[in-house]
Amino acid sequence: MRFDPFTDEGIADPYPHYADLRAADPVHWSEKLRAWVLFRHDDVATALRDDAHFSADRRRASRAARPGPPQAAEPNLRTVSSDPPDCLAVRAMLNAALVPRVRAIAPRIDAIVEELLADLIGRTEVDLVGDFAHALPIRVIAELLEVPEAERGRFQELSGTIARGMDRFYGGDDASSGLREIGAYFVGLVGERTDTPGDDLVRRLLRAEHEGNRLAPLEVVATCAALVFGGNETTVNLIANGTLALLRHPAELERLRADPSLAVAAVEELLRYDTPPQFISRVVAAPSELRGKALRPGDTVLLGIGPANRDPAVFAEPDRLDLTRAPNPHVGFGLGTHFCPGAQLSRMETRAAIPALLARFPRLALAGEPMWRRTIILRGLERLPVRLG
Ligand code: HEM
Repeated sequence: MRFDPFTDEGIADPYPHYADLRAADPVHWSEKLRAWVLFRHDDVATALRDDAHFSADRRRASRAARPGPPQAAEPNLRTVSSDPPDCLAVRAMLNAALVPRVRAIAPRIDAIVEELLADLIGRTEVDLVGDFAHALPIRVIAELLEVPEAERGRFQELSGTIARGMDRFYGGDDASSGLREIGAYFVGLVGERTDTPGDDLVRRLLRAEHEGNRLAPLEVVATCAALVFGGNETTVNLIANGTLALLRHPAELERLRADPSLAVAAVEELLRYDTPPQFISRVVAAPSELRGKALRPGDTVLLGIGPANRDPAVFAEPDRLDLTRAPNPHVGFGLGTHFCPGAQLSRMETRAAIPALLARFPRLALAGEPMWRRTIILRGLERLPVRLG
């Protein structure tokens, strides 16, 4: 059986096709994607926990394609996706900088949600992606970094372009030029903020220390880019995919509207039910065997986060949306060494955004067919037309 996710039905609803592959060939070689694809929760969890065999460092793939000693000019830039121990140091410093900033920004999240909702008042029909969800995470990150007011528009534009670049199967935007530009922007920001007082995330990253060691300026640049890269489109899609799931399950929607204290569990279930990062990639770092298949060093492996989150071996009635599902061991934020450092932030944003939207617009309803982006990695909507009342 072949994995062919790019059909119209697959783009609209990939889960039946995942179920077929999970049963027939859960460790699947896709000639089309030139990658192994994992469909079972236990295999995905095993790979996520095993950095020695499954590396998150993309540079390994290019090194494997070019055997020989490392090139002298290859800089040793430590990033969040390096292999341990480098990523552990970067993540420790990122966490030390991020956690207090996220705590401080919590009240601003509700305020930003209110501002965005206020802009919708008086309109009858809107696109929930472009007119609401899109702006929230970008504004939040701009505040975390204290991007100056005058530069916010440009920053938001660049963030929007590169967010989709994390998705190598999506050809919609020129992400690489956006990435270069935002890199140059962060180089400027890091230069301005070195050795000057302040509490923003950039300065906190510059000052952070781990076992007597600090991040080089370029490593701070790469970390800032990773936050924009990893934090925007994912959160936009969780808000939009989650709202769509609720609109298609009116009884669950009404439960949440009636009892906003369900939001904590509901966000986990919405993340499980239609996970934005459907696949994350690894490179085989040492000869491995999974369900009798031999994986060779240098092979790409796509870990099916979306498929794992619908695995009936772990979730009873996996295709049912149940806002109070417990336990809910989804892998929507990953697992192990590279577990999402922005999980708490995006939970806060989604717990604020969806209940506030439902409360503000009691007659919220779909106003047409949602339009999915034609991609399989970062599952999200191009447009979600809704009627407000
Ligand atoms: C709904 C929202 C989000 C989802 C579903 C999500 C999901 C994920 C997942 C699955 C990973 C693991 C990737 C891997 O193992 O290779 C990850 C990593 C990461 N996320 Fe998130 N994320 C979200 C929001 C955010 C936010 C808001 C930020 C930043 C403020 C962020 C920053 C990152 C970074 C920097 C990494 C790389 C960590 C590493 O490789 O060690 N994410 N995210």
